[in-house]
Amino acid sequence: MSEQLKAYCRQLRLGNLAPFVEQVDYLDKEQFITEILALALKQRETERIKGLVRAAGFPSPKTLDGYELEPITLPHGLTREQLVSLDFIDQKENLLLLGAVGTGKTHLSIALGLKACTQGKKVKFYRTADLATTLVDAWKLGTLSKLTRALAKLDLLILDEVGYVPTSKQAAELLFTVISTCYEKQSIIVTPNLELGRWNKVFGHDRLTAALIDRLIHHAHILSFSGGSYRFGQALRRARNPEDQQ
Ligand SMILES: Nc1ncnc2c1ncn2[C@@H]1O[C@H](COP(=O)(O)OP(=O)(O)OP(=O)(O)O)[C@@H](O)[C@H]1O
Ligand SMILES: [Mg+2]
Repeated sequence: MSEQLKAYCRQLRLGNLAPFVEQVDYLDKEQFITEILALALKQRETERIKGLVRAAGFPSPKTLDGYELEPITLPHGLTREQLVSLDFIDQKENLLLLGAVGTGKTHLSIALGLKACTQGKKVKFYRTADLATTLVDAWKLGTLSKLTRALAKLDLLILDEVGYVPTSKQAAELLFTVISTCYEKQSIIVTPNLELGRWNKVFGHDRLTAALIDRLIHHAHILSFSGGSYRFGQALRRARNPEDQQ
């Protein structure tokens, strides 16, 4: 590709088309240009998805491949197909993932979040204690409105491990504001590590806790994870058969 042609591509913001020119066979003018532009578009889309996945901040890359959905009890009105098709995000509905330790709640929330990214959706994953710290820090630094504006642009907010750490009054109020802003406008996947009835131990304030839970569970699908801990099951299998690394 000549320098002149590269410069035109840059000016037109078409990126570097040179690698695609090499890949496409010439049959006629229109087919040649169409195939080059199709490859450029596909690469742009791949880069965009990579950016969305990076921005989501997943703690590990978990997918739905090989994930067993059978032990999860779904509520009426939500089929497994609807769950994995991410219909709930378009409907601005929430998911509440309830279950004992190691039953796959975090895995499912990441896998659904990752799939949402591949559909071009904006997602952010937080351990709730980390979001609380980030909100308080942003408030101290005077960047809170920038952060809340960014959160308000998400299609899906994932709040993992609600309940492990008691939250300060200020952090609880800031979390409440984030959840209120999401209400009926964005989807949230929440994984409480504490029964809802004891959330006031974390958020401190009975009325605020009640208002928070009310907003979360209105338009929420409640998924119950039964069965035992996968971590425990895997450790047990390894102990019985040291060659089994799964
Ligand atoms: N249904 C499943 N299919 C395949 N792997 C699973 C499944 N559920 C859990 N795992 C695996 O088991 C491990 C524990 O799962 P995960 O961390 O999602 O559990 P959790 O319910 O979030 O636990 P905790 O309450 O302790 O946070 C992970 O490595 C995960 O990939
Ligand atoms: Mg978890």
